[in-house]
Amino acid sequence: MDDAYARLELCFNPFEPAASGVPVSGALWVPERWSQPLQRFVETMEGTSGTKAYAISGEYGSGKTYLLRWLERVELPRHRIRPFFFDNPGVRFYDLANTLLRQIGREEFAKSLWEFLNPKLPGFQGSLFEDSFQAWLLSVKKHRREKEAIRVLSEAMQTKGVADDEEIRYKLGRLIVETYDRPYFEYKDFIAGRQGSLVAEKEEAPYFATILRSLRLIGSAEALAFLMDEFEEISLQKRLTKRQAHDYLATMKRLIGLTEHEQFWIIVAMTPQAAEVTAKLEPALWQRFVSQGKHQFKIPPLNDQEARELVRRRLKNARPEETTAKPLFPFPENMMELFRKDIKSSPRKLVKVCSLAIAKAIQAPEQVQIPFGAEYLRQIQKELYPPPSVE
Ligand SMILES: Nc1ncnc2c1ncn2[C@@H]1O[C@H](COP(=O)(O)OP(=O)(O)OP(=O)(O)O)[C@@H](O)[C@H]1O
Ligand SMILES: [Mg+2]
Repeated sequence: MDDAYARLELCFNPFEPAASGVPVSGALWVPERWSQPLQRFVETMEGTSGTKAYAISGEYGSGKTYLLRWLERVELPRHRIRPFFFDNPGVRFYDLANTLLRQIGREEFAKSLWEFLNPKLPGFQGSLFEDSFQAWLLSVKKHRREKEAIRVLSEAMQTKGVADDEEIRYKLGRLIVETYDRPYFEYKDFIAGRQGSLVAEKEEAPYFATILRSLRLIGSAEALAFLMDEFEEISLQKRLTKRQAHDYLATMKRLIGLTEHEQFWIIVAMTPQAAEVTAKLEPALWQRFVSQGKHQFKIPPLNDQEARELVRRRLKNARPEETTAKPLFPFPENMMELFRKDIKSSPRKLVKVCSLAIAKAIQAPEQVQIPFGAEYLRQIQKELYPPPSVE
């Protein structure tokens, strides 16, 4: 097996057979035609008020998930924007908040917020051990100083700009003090009113805004960004009941509202069909979301140069340290001439065909000539993707 890879001047197959999302290793790269509009968006939105939402659309396998991951791992961190990735979030605002809280984890959230607030309770000695979050909580409990602790936390929240609203500050303070009583998060934790009581929908947004603000402050980030993948799952009308469609639109509205008032951004990815459905469902809302079309990008099919670069980078990532291989080896340098247009223009199809070409050469080295010949590549393309019929 190792010999078979050595012959291809590779350490492993750099193309994953499933071709979905990002590969396990290697830096992420996207063509300039993809990165430019998004970089422009990030730069113009920094520090501005107004709607900070963006819609990416693209056909099946065009690279939507990859592009969102690139934003998450490469582009947004460069601007100190803290990303949160959501895969197919639910239709209700509640679902979204729940997913977020589960992602952060209550202990982590409470502990960081506590560190940030740095609350001082009189009489607490400053030994190294006593300074830890756990020790602080233990002391609070032992001396039954919960009420006082919550008050001190709440004051710190006001001074440090986490929240103005007293009720919200109280809730958050209690959440910190009770961290180890119930270490998991429930969205209920943030809802106003008596325990278990239901809250009017519009009441949720201020709590959510406070969580967002806390997350930004404790991470000393410039802004937070939600990256929402597979938005089509939500908006594809045929699967939405009337009630769900209503929830979906209400969620969109509140999210947009939040982007206008907080340093908070949303970037969604969906199929072009889903974008159309949403646009038809409520045209004014969609126009607001995409800022009259300014904040919208459809991933174009790869051109030859981009496809070549994708393949070259993937291969480079799997090369042994010492190599004299040509950039596309074991593919021939004229590879793009040998690939069908419907295949090389789609990242998923391209990756799958390359994956199979290499896998076969590993399995039966004696039967596959290298660099790969035209006939071999033609066969593999045909095997995976029977050519579209001429009719
Ligand atoms: N810029 C890129 N560089 C390298 N590989 C890429 C790039 N863009 C996409 N790919 C690869 O192409 C394949 C398909 O990409 P991805 O899963 O992002 O498509 P998608 O549009 O999200 O698909 P779906 O519609 O099924 O959700 C993946 O294997 C991905 O790693
Ligand atoms: Mg995807």
